[in-house]
Parts: sequence; structure tokens; C-alpha cells
Amino acid sequence: MDALKKDGQLGKIRISTRSKGKHVEIRIQDTGTGIPPKIQNKVFDPFFTTKPVGKGTGQGLAIAFKAIHEKHGGVLKFETEENKGTTFIMTLPVTGTKSQPIGKA
Ligand SMILES: Nc1ncnc2c1ncn2[C@@H]1O[C@H](COP(=O)(O)OP(=O)(O)OP(=O)(O)O)[C@@H](O)[C@H]1O
Ligand SMILES: [Mg+2]
Repeated sequence: MDALKKDGQLGKIRISTRSKGKHVEIRIQDTGTGIPPKIQNKVFDPFFTTKPVGKGTGQGLAIAFKAIHEKHGGVLKFETEENKGTTFIMTLPVTGTKSQPIGKA
């Protein structure tokens, strides 16, 4: 829905992956509204949403950010331009992060 133009016109979502040495990069690009400068520093905050009351939880990006940074040792960032679209860029280590042992076998 965030990728819809304000006039309701359908946009495009393009997903690409590439290998970058010890990392993989996944780009999710849309041709939507873009993220306005005044909220760019808030979109990863838990419960931050611009959707109407009862529609969005504001949890989507907060959960994605936490999981990618803390669980996978990766990076989630975005590039955006108003009325052009947004690209979320996820970088993940190929080897993953070291798993924590649950207990002694
Ligand atoms: N692709 C996008 N294009 C433009 N704005 C976006 C995009 N993705 C997120 N946003 C902005 O960031 C806010 C927070 O996004 P997030 O995914 O965390 O929550 P949400 O989409 O509002 O709610 P939910 O994920 O519960 O549906 C959105 O309300 C919107 O303002
Ligand atoms: Mg969302």
C-alpha cells in the first residue's frame, strides 16, 4: 500500500539480489510516494505509523530492523525520493552470525 501513488495509480515493486563478497544485498524498490524528509528518522521506530487509526501497527519496519541488525548481523537502510519511490536495502552476512548455544549437550 505504501508503494501506491497518491492518486491510487498502481506502481512497480522491483526486488533484486546480488552477491557482494562476504555479504548479500537485497533491494526492494518501489515507485511509490517516497518517505518525506520530516519522518525519515522515525520510520524504524516501534509503533510509528502514518496509516489511519486502526490500520497500521507501525511495527513492520521496527521488527525488520531489529531482526536484521540484531539477529542476522546485517544492515537495513533506505534511499528515498518524494513522489519517486523508495528502495529498502538489506545487507546480510553470507555466513550469518554465530548462533548462541541453548545449553550443554
Ligand atoms: N515503501 C514505503 N514508502 C513510503 N513510506 C513508507 C514505506 N514503508 C514504510 N513507510 C512509512 O513508514 C511508516 C512505518 O512503516 P511500518 O512498516 O513500520 O509500519 P506501517 O506500515 O505503518 O504499519 P504495519 O507495518 O503494521 O502495516 C509507514 O506508516 C509509512 O509512513
Ligand atoms: Mg508496514
